Amino acid sequence: MIVLNSTNLYQVMKATALLMFFCFSVFSAKGQEPNYDESKVPPYQLPDPLKMENGQMVRNTDDWNDKRRPEILNLFESQVYGKAPVHPKDLHFRVLTEDRYALGNMATRKEVAVYFTKDEQHYMTILIYIPNKRNGAVPLFFGLNFKGNHTICDDPDITESITRMKPRDGNDEKQPGTFKRGAESSRWPVDMLIANGYALATVYRGDIDPDYDDGFQNGVHPLFYKEGQTKPKSDEWGTLSAWAWGLSCAMDYFETDEDINSNKVAVVGHSRHGKTALWAGAVDQRFAMAISNNSGCGGAALSRRKYGETVRKVNTLFPHWFAGNFKKYNDKEELLPVDQHQLIALMAPRPVYIASAVEDRWADPKGEFLSGVFATPVYELFGLEGLNGASLPEIDQPLLNGSIGYHLRSGDHDIKLYDWQQFVKFADKHFK
Ligand code: GCU
Repeated sequence: MIVLNSTNLYQVMKATALLMFFCFSVFSAKGQEPNYDESKVPPYQLPDPLKMENGQMVRNTDDWNDKRRPEILNLFESQVYGKAPVHPKDLHFRVLTEDRYALGNMATRKEVAVYFTKDEQHYMTILIYIPNKRNGAVPLFFGLNFKGNHTICDDPDITESITRMKPRDGNDEKQPGTFKRGAESSRWPVDMLIANGYALATVYRGDIDPDYDDGFQNGVHPLFYKEGQTKPKSDEWGTLSAWAWGLSCAMDYFETDEDINSNKVAVVGHSRHGKTALWAGAVDQRFAMAISNNSGCGGAALSRRKYGETVRKVNTLFPHWFAGNFKKYNDKEELLPVDQHQLIALMAPRPVYIASAVEDRWADPKGEFLSGVFATPVYELFGLEGLNGASLPEIDQPLLNGSIGYHLRSGDHDIKLYDWQQFVKFADKHFK
Protein backbone atom coordinates (compact mmCIF):
# COMPACT_ATOMS: atom_id res chain seq x y z
CA MET A 1 0.00 0.00 0.00
CA ILE A 2 1.25 3.49 -0.83
CA VAL A 3 0.89 6.02 1.90
CA LEU A 4 0.97 9.60 0.68
CA ASN A 5 3.07 11.88 2.81
CA SER A 6 3.99 15.44 1.89
CA THR A 7 7.19 14.39 0.06
CA ASN A 8 5.72 11.78 -2.21
CA LEU A 9 2.54 13.82 -2.65
CA TYR A 10 4.79 16.53 -4.06
CA GLN A 11 6.42 13.97 -6.38
CA VAL A 12 3.05 12.66 -7.55
CA MET A 13 1.90 16.22 -8.28
CA LYS A 14 5.11 16.98 -10.11
CA ALA A 15 4.83 13.81 -12.20
CA THR A 16 1.20 14.60 -13.02
CA ALA A 17 2.10 18.14 -14.04
CA LEU A 18 4.91 16.85 -16.26
CA LEU A 19 2.60 14.32 -17.86
CA MET A 20 0.00 17.02 -18.52
CA PHE A 21 2.67 19.28 -19.99
CA PHE A 22 3.90 16.45 -22.24
CA CYS A 23 0.36 15.68 -23.45
CA PHE A 24 -0.26 19.36 -24.08
CA SER A 25 2.95 19.71 -26.10
CA VAL A 26 2.18 16.69 -28.26
CA PHE A 27 -1.36 17.93 -28.69
CA SER A 28 -0.35 21.40 -29.73
CA ALA A 29 2.46 20.19 -32.01
CA LYS A 30 0.16 17.81 -33.79
CA GLY A 31 -2.98 19.93 -33.54
CA GLN A 32 -6.11 17.87 -33.09
CA GLU A 33 -6.11 14.17 -33.78
CA PRO A 34 -5.99 13.60 -37.53
CA ASN A 35 -9.31 12.94 -39.15
CA TYR A 36 -9.51 9.60 -40.91
CA ASP A 37 -13.28 9.52 -41.19
CA GLU A 38 -14.54 10.32 -44.69
CA SER A 39 -17.90 11.42 -43.29
CA LYS A 40 -16.11 14.14 -41.30
CA VAL A 41 -14.44 15.72 -44.31
CA PRO A 42 -15.92 19.23 -44.30
CA PRO A 43 -17.89 20.46 -47.31
CA TYR A 44 -15.54 22.52 -49.43
CA GLN A 45 -15.45 24.54 -52.60
CA LEU A 46 -12.31 24.44 -54.71
CA PRO A 47 -10.98 27.40 -56.68
CA ASP A 48 -11.74 26.83 -60.36
CA PRO A 49 -8.45 26.38 -62.25
CA LEU A 50 -10.07 27.82 -65.39
CA LYS A 51 -11.60 30.92 -63.83
CA MET A 52 -9.34 33.95 -63.98
CA GLU A 53 -8.97 36.46 -61.17
CA ASN A 54 -11.05 38.96 -63.18
CA GLY A 55 -13.91 36.45 -63.23
CA GLN A 56 -13.55 35.53 -66.89
CA MET A 57 -13.21 31.93 -67.97
CA VAL A 58 -10.15 30.59 -69.75
CA ARG A 59 -11.24 29.93 -73.36
CA ASN A 60 -8.13 28.51 -74.95
CA THR A 61 -4.56 27.46 -74.31
CA ASP A 62 -3.26 31.00 -74.90
CA ASP A 63 -5.47 32.27 -72.07
CA TRP A 64 -4.11 29.49 -69.92
CA ASN A 65 -0.43 29.97 -70.77
CA ASP A 66 -0.40 33.76 -70.82
CA LYS A 67 -2.89 34.67 -68.10
CA ARG A 68 -4.28 31.98 -65.84
CA ARG A 69 -1.16 29.86 -65.40
CA PRO A 70 0.96 32.83 -64.24
CA GLU A 71 -1.80 33.85 -61.80
CA ILE A 72 -1.88 30.41 -60.19
CA LEU A 73 1.90 30.11 -60.15
CA ASN A 74 2.21 33.49 -58.42
CA LEU A 75 -0.25 32.46 -55.74
CA PHE A 76 1.60 29.22 -55.02
CA GLU A 77 4.83 31.18 -54.94
CA SER A 78 3.72 33.89 -52.56
CA GLN A 79 1.29 31.93 -50.36
CA VAL A 80 2.53 28.34 -50.29
CA TYR A 81 6.13 27.50 -51.21
CA GLY A 82 7.81 30.90 -51.45
CA LYS A 83 9.58 32.54 -54.33
CA ALA A 84 13.10 31.35 -55.11
CA PRO A 85 15.78 33.56 -56.64
CA VAL A 86 16.96 33.18 -60.23
CA HIS A 87 19.87 30.81 -60.74
CA PRO A 88 23.18 32.34 -59.68
CA LYS A 89 25.24 33.90 -62.43
CA ASP A 90 28.23 31.92 -61.20
CA LEU A 91 26.48 28.55 -61.50
CA HIS A 92 28.92 26.13 -63.08
CA PHE A 93 29.53 22.41 -63.30
CA ARG A 94 32.36 19.94 -63.24
CA VAL A 95 32.34 16.22 -63.92
CA LEU A 96 34.19 14.87 -60.87
CA THR A 97 34.22 11.18 -61.71
CA GLU A 98 33.21 9.04 -64.65
CA ASP A 99 33.22 5.25 -64.89
CA ARG A 100 32.01 3.57 -68.07
CA TYR A 101 32.01 0.12 -66.51
CA ALA A 102 29.64 0.59 -63.58
CA LEU A 103 26.91 -1.87 -62.53
CA GLY A 104 28.58 -4.85 -64.20
CA ASN A 105 29.33 -2.80 -67.34
CA MET A 106 25.65 -2.01 -67.81
CA ALA A 107 25.96 1.70 -67.04
CA THR A 108 28.18 4.73 -67.00
CA ARG A 109 28.35 6.41 -63.61
CA LYS A 110 29.11 10.11 -63.41
CA GLU A 111 29.33 12.41 -60.45
CA VAL A 112 28.90 16.05 -61.32
CA ALA A 113 29.42 19.01 -59.02
CA VAL A 114 27.01 21.89 -59.48
CA TYR A 115 28.69 24.90 -57.91
CA PHE A 116 26.40 27.64 -56.67
CA THR A 117 29.23 30.10 -56.09
CA LYS A 118 32.35 31.15 -57.95
CA ASP A 119 34.59 30.15 -55.03
CA GLU A 120 33.10 26.61 -55.21
CA GLN A 121 32.38 26.59 -51.48
CA HIS A 122 28.71 25.74 -52.02
CA TYR A 123 27.75 22.91 -54.31
CA MET A 124 25.66 19.82 -54.77
CA THR A 125 26.78 16.57 -56.32
CA ILE A 126 24.59 14.86 -58.90
CA LEU A 127 25.03 11.10 -59.13
CA ILE A 128 24.07 9.85 -62.59
CA TYR A 129 23.76 6.38 -64.11
CA ILE A 130 23.37 6.20 -67.88
CA PRO A 131 22.59 2.94 -69.67
CA ASN A 132 25.48 1.77 -71.83
CA LYS A 133 23.06 0.19 -74.27
CA ARG A 134 21.75 3.28 -75.96
CA ASN A 135 21.33 4.94 -79.30
CA GLY A 136 21.88 8.59 -78.56
CA ALA A 137 20.65 10.60 -75.63
CA VAL A 138 18.36 8.84 -73.14
CA PRO A 139 15.39 9.95 -71.03
CA LEU A 140 16.08 10.53 -67.35
CA PHE A 141 14.40 10.03 -63.99
CA PHE A 142 15.71 12.58 -61.53
CA GLY A 143 14.99 13.14 -57.84
CA LEU A 144 16.31 13.94 -54.40
CA ASN A 145 17.44 11.30 -51.95
CA PHE A 146 17.03 11.38 -48.17
CA LYS A 147 20.30 9.99 -46.83
CA GLY A 148 23.15 10.58 -49.26
CA ASN A 149 24.00 9.51 -52.81
CA HIS A 150 25.91 6.47 -51.57
CA THR A 151 22.74 5.05 -50.00
CA ILE A 152 20.79 4.59 -53.25
CA CYS A 153 22.61 1.40 -54.21
CA ASP A 154 25.52 -0.67 -53.00
CA ASP A 155 27.91 0.40 -55.78
CA PRO A 156 31.12 0.75 -53.70
CA ASP A 157 32.45 3.58 -55.86
CA ILE A 158 29.78 6.18 -55.21
CA THR A 159 31.32 9.07 -53.33
CA GLU A 160 29.80 9.29 -49.88
CA SER A 161 27.71 12.42 -49.41
CA ILE A 162 28.80 14.70 -46.65
CA THR A 163 27.02 17.50 -44.95
CA ARG A 164 28.88 20.67 -45.74
CA MET A 165 26.45 22.70 -43.68
CA LYS A 166 27.06 22.39 -39.98
CA PRO A 167 24.28 20.38 -38.36
CA ARG A 168 22.85 21.63 -35.10
CA ASP A 169 22.75 19.49 -31.98
CA GLY A 170 19.67 17.45 -31.59
CA ASN A 171 18.42 17.87 -35.13
CA ASP A 172 16.92 15.10 -37.18
CA GLU A 173 19.20 15.51 -40.13
CA LYS A 174 21.80 12.90 -39.33
CA GLN A 175 25.24 13.13 -40.87
CA PRO A 176 25.10 11.19 -44.12
CA GLY A 177 28.15 9.24 -42.97
CA THR A 178 25.91 7.53 -40.45
CA PHE A 179 23.97 5.86 -43.27
CA LYS A 180 25.31 2.73 -44.84
CA ARG A 181 26.05 2.31 -48.50
CA GLY A 182 22.94 0.96 -50.18
CA ALA A 183 20.73 1.67 -47.13
CA GLU A 184 18.00 3.11 -49.38
CA SER A 185 18.40 0.68 -52.29
CA SER A 186 14.86 -0.68 -51.98
CA ARG A 187 13.70 2.79 -53.02
CA TRP A 188 15.96 3.12 -56.09
CA PRO A 189 15.70 0.23 -58.58
CA VAL A 190 18.74 1.37 -60.54
CA ASP A 191 19.21 -1.88 -62.48
CA MET A 192 15.58 -1.99 -63.55
CA LEU A 193 15.68 1.58 -64.84
CA ILE A 194 18.92 0.96 -66.72
CA ALA A 195 17.53 -2.25 -68.25
CA ASN A 196 14.54 -0.24 -69.49
CA GLY A 197 16.74 2.35 -71.19
CA TYR A 198 16.42 5.15 -68.62
CA ALA A 199 19.13 7.14 -66.96
CA LEU A 200 18.78 7.91 -63.26
CA ALA A 201 20.12 10.94 -61.45
CA THR A 202 19.87 11.93 -57.82
CA VAL A 203 21.08 14.59 -55.41
CA TYR A 204 21.32 14.43 -51.64
CA ARG A 205 18.87 17.09 -50.47
CA GLY A 206 21.17 18.13 -47.64
CA ASP A 207 23.57 19.45 -50.29
CA ILE A 208 20.96 22.10 -51.02
CA ASP A 209 19.34 22.63 -47.63
CA PRO A 210 19.53 20.25 -44.68
CA ASP A 211 16.08 19.21 -43.55
CA TYR A 212 15.64 20.88 -40.20
CA ASP A 213 14.51 24.20 -38.88
CA ASP A 214 17.58 26.29 -38.14
CA GLY A 215 16.17 29.66 -39.19
CA PHE A 216 17.52 29.25 -42.74
CA GLN A 217 21.20 29.60 -41.91
CA ASN A 218 22.75 26.40 -43.16
CA GLY A 219 21.47 25.86 -46.70
CA VAL A 220 21.53 27.94 -49.85
CA HIS A 221 19.24 30.67 -48.47
CA PRO A 222 21.98 32.90 -46.96
CA LEU A 223 23.77 33.03 -50.32
CA PHE A 224 20.93 35.23 -51.51
CA TYR A 225 20.15 37.41 -48.51
CA LYS A 226 20.15 41.12 -49.23
CA GLU A 227 22.26 43.25 -46.92
CA GLY A 228 20.94 42.96 -43.38
CA GLN A 229 18.57 40.12 -44.24
CA THR A 230 18.77 37.11 -41.91
CA LYS A 231 15.88 34.96 -43.06
CA PRO A 232 13.56 34.70 -46.07
CA LYS A 233 10.66 37.17 -46.19
CA SER A 234 7.21 35.70 -45.69
CA ASP A 235 6.68 35.21 -49.42
CA GLU A 236 10.17 33.89 -50.08
CA TRP A 237 11.43 30.35 -50.36
CA GLY A 238 11.21 27.75 -47.65
CA THR A 239 13.13 24.49 -47.78
CA LEU A 240 10.88 22.73 -50.31
CA SER A 241 11.24 25.65 -52.66
CA ALA A 242 15.02 25.63 -52.16
CA TRP A 243 15.13 21.94 -53.01
CA ALA A 244 13.06 22.57 -56.15
CA TRP A 245 15.43 25.39 -57.04
CA GLY A 246 18.37 22.98 -56.70
CA LEU A 247 16.63 20.50 -59.01
CA SER A 248 16.14 23.28 -61.51
CA CYS A 249 19.85 24.22 -61.30
CA ALA A 250 20.66 20.57 -62.06
CA MET A 251 18.49 20.88 -65.17
CA ASP A 252 20.94 23.53 -66.40
CA TYR A 253 23.61 20.84 -66.24
CA PHE A 254 21.47 18.16 -67.95
CA GLU A 255 21.08 20.51 -70.89
CA THR A 256 24.83 20.35 -71.38
CA ASP A 257 25.20 16.56 -71.09
CA GLU A 258 24.90 14.96 -74.49
CA ASP A 259 24.14 11.51 -73.08
CA ILE A 260 20.94 12.85 -71.51
CA ASN A 261 17.86 13.87 -73.44
CA SER A 262 17.03 17.04 -71.55
CA ASN A 263 13.63 17.21 -73.25
CA LYS A 264 12.71 13.97 -71.50
CA VAL A 265 13.52 14.53 -67.86
CA ALA A 266 10.98 13.26 -65.32
CA VAL A 267 11.35 14.85 -61.88
CA VAL A 268 10.33 12.31 -59.26
CA GLY A 269 10.12 12.22 -55.49
CA HIS A 270 8.73 10.37 -52.51
CA SER A 271 6.82 12.11 -49.74
CA ARG A 272 8.43 15.52 -48.92
CA HIS A 273 10.47 15.02 -52.08
CA GLY A 274 7.20 14.29 -53.93
CA LYS A 275 5.90 17.69 -52.84
CA THR A 276 9.19 19.11 -54.10
CA ALA A 277 8.98 17.28 -57.45
CA LEU A 278 5.54 18.77 -58.14
CA TRP A 279 6.69 22.25 -57.23
CA ALA A 280 9.86 21.85 -59.33
CA GLY A 281 7.75 20.78 -62.32
CA ALA A 282 5.45 23.76 -61.82
CA VAL A 283 8.25 26.31 -61.65
CA ASP A 284 10.55 24.87 -64.29
CA GLN A 285 8.72 23.85 -67.42
CA ARG A 286 11.82 22.20 -68.82
CA PHE A 287 10.85 19.18 -66.70
CA ALA A 288 8.86 17.09 -69.16
CA MET A 289 7.08 15.07 -66.48
CA ALA A 290 6.57 15.17 -62.71
CA ILE A 291 5.96 12.16 -60.49
CA SER A 292 4.84 12.48 -56.90
CA ASN A 293 4.81 9.44 -54.70
CA ASN A 294 2.80 9.57 -51.44
CA SER A 295 3.30 13.34 -51.37
CA GLY A 296 0.27 14.17 -49.22
CA CYS A 297 -0.33 17.56 -47.62
CA GLY A 298 1.36 20.36 -49.57
CA GLY A 299 1.91 17.83 -52.37
CA ALA A 300 -0.85 16.17 -54.35
CA ALA A 301 -3.50 16.03 -51.57
CA LEU A 302 -6.28 18.63 -51.50
CA SER A 303 -5.74 20.83 -48.43
CA ARG A 304 -9.43 21.65 -48.02
CA ARG A 305 -10.31 18.04 -47.22
CA LYS A 306 -8.37 18.27 -43.92
CA TYR A 307 -8.01 14.50 -43.99
CA GLY A 308 -4.89 13.08 -42.31
CA GLU A 309 -2.16 15.72 -42.26
CA THR A 310 -3.50 19.27 -42.33
CA VAL A 311 -1.90 22.62 -43.09
CA ARG A 312 -1.50 23.33 -39.37
CA LYS A 313 0.14 19.97 -38.79
CA VAL A 314 2.65 20.23 -41.59
CA ASN A 315 3.50 23.82 -40.65
CA THR A 316 3.96 22.83 -37.01
CA LEU A 317 5.96 19.66 -37.53
CA PHE A 318 8.08 21.16 -40.33
CA PRO A 319 8.06 24.96 -39.86
CA HIS A 320 10.83 25.39 -42.43
CA TRP A 321 9.26 23.65 -45.43
CA PHE A 322 6.91 26.31 -46.76
CA ALA A 323 6.86 30.09 -47.14
CA GLY A 324 6.05 31.98 -43.93
CA ASN A 325 2.75 33.03 -45.51
CA PHE A 326 1.50 29.46 -45.62
CA LYS A 327 1.08 29.56 -41.82
CA LYS A 328 -1.75 32.06 -42.30
CA TYR A 329 -3.84 29.13 -43.48
CA ASN A 330 -3.43 26.95 -40.39
CA ASP A 331 -7.03 25.79 -39.66
CA LYS A 332 -8.14 28.17 -42.42
CA GLU A 333 -7.68 26.01 -45.49
CA GLU A 334 -10.85 27.48 -46.99
CA LEU A 335 -9.07 30.85 -47.25
CA LEU A 336 -6.25 29.49 -49.38
CA PRO A 337 -6.43 31.20 -52.78
CA VAL A 338 -5.33 27.92 -54.39
CA ASP A 339 -5.63 24.22 -53.71
CA GLN A 340 -3.38 21.38 -54.76
CA HIS A 341 -5.36 20.34 -57.86
CA GLN A 342 -4.05 23.59 -59.33
CA LEU A 343 -0.49 22.49 -58.63
CA ILE A 344 -1.20 19.39 -60.72
CA ALA A 345 -2.76 21.62 -63.37
CA LEU A 346 0.43 23.71 -63.56
CA MET A 347 2.04 20.64 -65.18
CA ALA A 348 -0.38 20.78 -68.15
CA PRO A 349 0.03 19.81 -70.91
CA ARG A 350 3.02 17.81 -69.64
CA PRO A 351 2.27 14.39 -68.15
CA VAL A 352 2.11 14.07 -64.38
CA TYR A 353 1.82 11.00 -62.16
CA ILE A 354 0.30 10.77 -58.70
CA ALA A 355 1.00 7.65 -56.65
CA SER A 356 -0.75 6.81 -53.38
CA ALA A 357 -0.57 3.91 -50.94
CA VAL A 358 -3.72 2.59 -49.33
CA GLU A 359 -2.40 2.45 -45.77
CA ASP A 360 -0.82 5.90 -46.05
CA ARG A 361 -3.88 7.66 -44.67
CA TRP A 362 -1.77 10.53 -43.29
CA ALA A 363 -1.16 11.53 -46.95
CA ASP A 364 -4.88 11.21 -47.86
CA PRO A 365 -4.88 8.91 -50.92
CA LYS A 366 -8.36 10.03 -51.93
CA GLY A 367 -7.36 13.70 -51.71
CA GLU A 368 -4.33 12.93 -53.88
CA PHE A 369 -6.55 11.22 -56.43
CA LEU A 370 -9.10 14.05 -56.45
CA SER A 371 -6.40 16.59 -57.28
CA GLY A 372 -5.92 14.67 -60.52
CA VAL A 373 -9.67 14.65 -61.14
CA PHE A 374 -10.00 18.41 -60.61
CA ALA A 375 -6.90 19.20 -62.70
CA THR A 376 -8.35 17.28 -65.63
CA PRO A 377 -10.30 20.19 -67.23
CA VAL A 378 -6.99 21.98 -67.83
CA TYR A 379 -5.63 18.96 -69.73
CA GLU A 380 -8.88 18.81 -71.70
CA LEU A 381 -8.30 22.40 -72.75
CA PHE A 382 -5.20 21.07 -74.51
CA GLY A 383 -7.25 18.30 -76.14
CA LEU A 384 -5.69 15.73 -73.83
CA GLU A 385 -7.22 13.20 -71.53
CA GLY A 386 -6.38 14.08 -67.92
CA LEU A 387 -7.13 11.40 -65.37
CA ASN A 388 -8.77 8.38 -66.94
CA GLY A 389 -11.35 7.71 -64.19
CA ALA A 390 -13.54 9.69 -61.83
CA SER A 391 -13.56 7.41 -58.80
CA LEU A 392 -10.70 6.00 -56.82
CA PRO A 393 -9.47 2.87 -58.64
CA GLU A 394 -9.09 -0.52 -57.02
CA ILE A 395 -5.87 -1.22 -55.17
CA ASP A 396 -2.96 -2.00 -57.51
CA GLN A 397 -4.99 -1.14 -60.62
CA PRO A 398 -3.06 1.78 -62.10
CA LEU A 399 -4.64 4.35 -64.40
CA LEU A 400 -1.97 4.83 -67.04
CA ASN A 401 -3.83 6.01 -70.11
CA GLY A 402 -4.36 9.72 -69.64
CA SER A 403 -1.82 12.49 -69.20
CA ILE A 404 -2.42 12.26 -65.45
CA GLY A 405 -1.40 8.82 -64.21
CA TYR A 406 -2.49 7.44 -60.86
CA HIS A 407 -2.25 4.33 -58.74
CA LEU A 408 -3.24 3.25 -55.25
CA ARG A 409 -0.63 0.74 -54.16
CA SER A 410 -1.29 -1.84 -51.47
CA GLY A 411 0.76 -1.25 -48.34
CA ASP A 412 2.18 1.70 -46.49
CA HIS A 413 4.01 4.99 -46.97
CA ASP A 414 7.08 4.16 -49.05
CA ILE A 415 8.39 4.10 -52.61
CA LYS A 416 8.76 0.59 -53.91
CA LEU A 417 9.62 -1.34 -57.02
CA TYR A 418 5.90 -1.54 -57.84
CA ASP A 419 5.67 2.27 -57.90
CA TRP A 420 8.68 2.59 -60.19
CA GLN A 421 7.34 -0.09 -62.51
CA GLN A 422 4.23 2.04 -63.07
CA PHE A 423 6.34 5.18 -63.57
CA VAL A 424 8.34 3.36 -66.25
CA LYS A 425 5.17 2.20 -68.04
CA PHE A 426 3.81 5.73 -67.92
CA ALA A 427 7.10 7.24 -69.12
CA ASP A 428 7.30 4.66 -71.94
CA LYS A 429 3.96 5.94 -73.22
CA HIS A 430 5.07 9.55 -73.23
CA PHE A 431 8.80 9.36 -73.91
CA LYS A 432 9.24 6.44 -76.30
C1 GCU B 1 5.97 13.42 -42.49
C2 GCU B 1 5.22 14.64 -42.98
C3 GCU B 1 4.74 14.46 -44.41
C4 GCU B 1 5.87 14.03 -45.30
C5 GCU B 1 6.56 12.83 -44.74
C6 GCU B 1 7.83 12.40 -45.48
O1 GCU B 1 5.08 12.36 -42.36
O2 GCU B 1 4.19 14.91 -42.09
O3 GCU B 1 4.17 15.67 -44.89
O4 GCU B 1 5.41 13.81 -46.61
O5 GCU B 1 6.97 13.09 -43.41
O6 GCU B 1 8.43 13.20 -46.15
O7 GCU B 1 8.24 11.25 -45.30
